[in-house]
Amino acid sequence: MKTKLLKKIRESNDYISGQLLCSEFGVSRTAIWKVIHQLEEEGYRIEAVRNKGYRLLESPDVISREEISCFLDTAWAGREIHYFPEIDSTNIRARQLGESGACHGTLVTAECQKGGKGRRGRGWVSPTAGNIYMTLLLRPDIRPDKAPMLTLVMAYAVAAGISEETGVAVQIKWPNDILVNGKKVCGILTEMSTEIDYINYVVIGVGVNSNMSSFPDELSEKATSLCLETGKVVHRAQLIAAVLKHFEAAYEPFIEHKDLRGIQEEYNQLLVNRGRNVKILLPEREYQAYALGIDHTGKLLVKKETGETEAIFAGEVSVRGVDGYI
Ligand code: BTN
Repeated sequence: MKTKLLKKIRESNDYISGQLLCSEFGVSRTAIWKVIHQLEEEGYRIEAVRNKGYRLLESPDVISREEISCFLDTAWAGREIHYFPEIDSTNIRARQLGESGACHGTLVTAECQKGGKGRRGRGWVSPTAGNIYMTLLLRPDIRPDKAPMLTLVMAYAVAAGISEETGVAVQIKWPNDILVNGKKVCGILTEMSTEIDYINYVVIGVGVNSNMSSFPDELSEKATSLCLETGKVVHRAQLIAAVLKHFEAAYEPFIEHKDLRGIQEEYNQLLVNRGRNVKILLPEREYQAYALGIDHTGKLLVKKETGETEAIFAGEVSVRGVDGYI
């Protein structure tokens, strides 16, 4: 009821009467007052005026279930939300939820991670600094070898969500780093639990540097935040809702075709590597090639110096710009 009540008060631009809320939720005035009081304890400022009712004056900047749900426009993505002020890693928690039968579309969010995980066994610096740390749990009916494509679906959804919410120009560094002005604002880590030919669940973890105001020296050349780049504070709950909306819209055609044809063109338009010479780093050697864009399976198509076109699978390689990160 707390989530629904908050949504009601937020949607009404004027005072909303206590009586109306009582009949809407079928509860007493005291019950309504108790929920209002809980919301105030969570940082909402709600004005109560006799004979007029309640009015929302201010919301806290949190990524709680109540706050995200107010902006959510999805059928299943984020319809179940687990929020933690502090956690080891939202991916770890989402995996535990996956093991215990949580439903497709469950979202885990946190203000701070003590053991944030990055790709290739690295960590992900996750202080309480107005960032987004979130993980989406999925139960897709696809073969395990198709699952890596979901990371590209999420990369596309995050880019679309950021661009919708902030208006800033966003790019994707293949396969799934999100860049603004050439610096990384988001990383994505996908993990899964499978049988040989069956997926139990997939978790897609997303870290967005949203309102962080400074970075440790070793990161500041490559990383930035949306707030630093736009000069504006990002409304994180709205951004999460926008990302989930774009993810859900892109997920349906992905499941239907079992490939990325639904987003391939849009993804390629955002691809920072496209039309550039890149360095392909294999475990045993490296070479230069010209990046053409992704194919319908998410492989990066590159033209080699021999003139031959090769499709590169993200799992095996890193791609860098000839002179640096991009
Ligand atoms: C990368 O190395 O680029 C991927 C970073 C992924 C970080 C996110 S933050 C939310 C989720 N929980 C984690 O522990 N990691 C992912």
